[in-house]
Amino acid sequence: MSTTRTDAFIAFNDAHSLALRIWHWTTFAVITTSIVLVLMGTFMFKTRDNVGMVQEQLEHKGATVTKDQARSVAHEYSDKIWMTHKFVGYGLCFLLLSRILLEAAQPGEEKYRAKLKRALMFQSADAKHYRLVKQGYLLFYFLFFVMAATGLVLAFEDVAFLDPIHEPMGKLHEFTQYGIYAFILIHLTGVVRAEIGSHDGVVSAMFHGKKRKG
Ligand code: HEM
Ligand code: HEM
Repeated sequence: MSTTRTDAFIAFNDAHSLALRIWHWTTFAVITTSIVLVLMGTFMFKTRDNVGMVQEQLEHKGATVTKDQARSVAHEYSDKIWMTHKFVGYGLCFLLLSRILLEAAQPGEEKYRAKLKRALMFQSADAKHYRLVKQGYLLFYFLFFVMAATGLVLAFEDVAFLDPIHEPMGKLHEFTQYGIYAFILIHLTGVVRAEIGSHDGVVSAMFHGKKRKG
C-alpha cells in the first residue's frame, strides 16, 4: 500500500472532522439501541405471545384471570418497549437534523459534495467502488429520513390531520426498516473488507481522524 498511492487510496483516506466522527459513533450506538428495541418488541414482548404466560404465572400464584385480563398486562410490556423505541426515535431525528447542519459546517474538502466530485474525477477502476460507497451513504441518509418522517407520524398519533396517513406511513416505516438493515450489513461487510484488504486503517481513522500516510 505504501508504494502505490492509487486514486482509491487517496479517496478512502478522506479526513473526517471530529464532529462527524462523534456523530458517526453516536448514531451507531443509538440506531443499534433502536434496532434492539424493535427486535424485543417484535419477538420477545409481542402481546399475543405472552398472554398464555401471564395466565400461567398467575395460575401458579393462585389467581385465575381471563384471557382479556392477561392480555392487558402483556400489552403493557409491549407498550413500554414501543414507547422507549419512540423516545430513542426522537434522538435519531435529532441526530439526522444535526447531520444536515453538520454538512453545512464541514470544511470544504470534507463536504459530501466535494467527496462525490472528487470520486467523479478519479480514473482508476477503484474509483467506481469509491463512488458507489459515497452514493450508498446518500441512499442511507434518504432511508434515514423516511424512517424519521414516518416515525414522527406514528409518534404523533393524536394529531387529527395526520390520521388519514397514519396507516400507510406505518406500513412504510415497517417496510423501510429492511433498507436500514441492508445498509448496515453491507456497510459492516465493506469496512471489514477494506480494513483487512487494501485500505487498512479506515476504521481507526474513523476514531482518530488523521489521514494515513501513503
Ligand atoms: C433505525 C431506525 C428505525 C427502525 C429500524 C424502526 C423500526 C420500527 C418497527 C419495525 C416498528 C413496528 C412497526 C409495526 O409493526 O407496525 C416501529 C414502530 C414505531 N417507530 Fe420506529 N424504527 C426506526 C426509527 C424510528 C424513528 C426515528 C422514530 C421517530 C420517532 C420511530 C418511531 C416509531 C413509532 C412511534 C412506532 C410505533 C410504536 C407503537 O406501535 O406504539 N421509529 N419502528
Ligand atoms: C448502525 C451502524 C452504522 C451506521 C448506520 C453507519 C453509518 C455510516 C455513515 C452514514 C457513514 C458516512 C458518513 C459520511 O461521510 O457522511 C459511515 C462511514 C464510516 N463508517 Fe459507519 N455506520 C455504522 C457502523 C459502523 C461500524 C460498526 C464501523 C466500524 C467497524 C463503521 C465504520 C465506518 C467507517 C470506517 C466509515 C468511513 C468510510 C469512508 O471513508 O467512506 N461504521 N458510517
